Amino acid sequence: MTDTTAWDTYARRKPGGRREKNAKGETTWFNWTQYPDHGPGIDVLGEAEKAALLELGCGAGGNLAHAATLGHRAVGVDVSPVQLKAARERWGDLPGLELHQRGALDFMGETAERFDAVYSVFGAVWFTDPRQMLPAVRQVLKPGGVLAFSQRPPVEGCYGCQASYINQADDPNPLVVKRWDYTTDMWTGLLKEHGFRHALANEIPPPEGWKTGTLLVRALVPGA
Ligand SMILES: C[S@@+](CC[C@H](N)C(=O)[O-])C[C@H]1O[C@@H](n2cnc3c(N)ncnc32)[C@H](O)[C@@H]1O
Repeated sequence: MTDTTAWDTYARRKPGGRREKNAKGETTWFNWTQYPDHGPGIDVLGEAEKAALLELGCGAGGNLAHAATLGHRAVGVDVSPVQLKAARERWGDLPGLELHQRGALDFMGETAERFDAVYSVFGAVWFTDPRQMLPAVRQVLKPGGVLAFSQRPPVEGCYGCQASYINQADDPNPLVVKRWDYTTDMWTGLLKEHGFRHALANEIPPPEGWKTGTLLVRALVPGA
């Protein structure tokens, strides 16, 4: 059974509640970046009106809720029961939204459903070895389907598996989770190596006054 302590701790220390409205007054919206009201929206996933979307590491479900309100089938997977509880409490009644408390690889290994797009926002794609993640994503995408994900750009010279620290309230020792950091060129190379096409990786600049941008990666599986 997966130990969810680290991610549950993260969820409790960073309650994922979204604001009630964004700067435009919308009650749901899509955000690929770590900054509010910044960067591209859900159109990164394609223009289809009623698509089947899978989010890996959906957290408290804000992006998934936006997909569901647009009429998409919005399936979210997250390993943390704490995150899933928050997602269910806020968004659980939305038609088209479905949540699973599961590891991303386990879910993709078990599901028979095929998706138009798989996406991850600072989510499970960042925290899983791409040599396991990319073949699993390919398997659940329909021909021509889209993979898109965002994460923090790498620290120069620190590539591959890195440690992320999650602070605990009552213990000076942080919990550690693994993440996988690569440059834009490394990501496009990995995606090609795993059979994806039209791989694009870019850094979205941060808002004025901030230093760290956001890495956004997108690729297609062959077909259709
Ligand atoms: C940094 S949070 C981002 C959450 C959300 N996507 C957001 O933008 O607010 C990372 C999320 O990925 C989940 N996660 C990490 N590894 C996972 C895995 N292997 N399978 C499923 N979920 C995972 C964590 O529980 C956590 O909710």
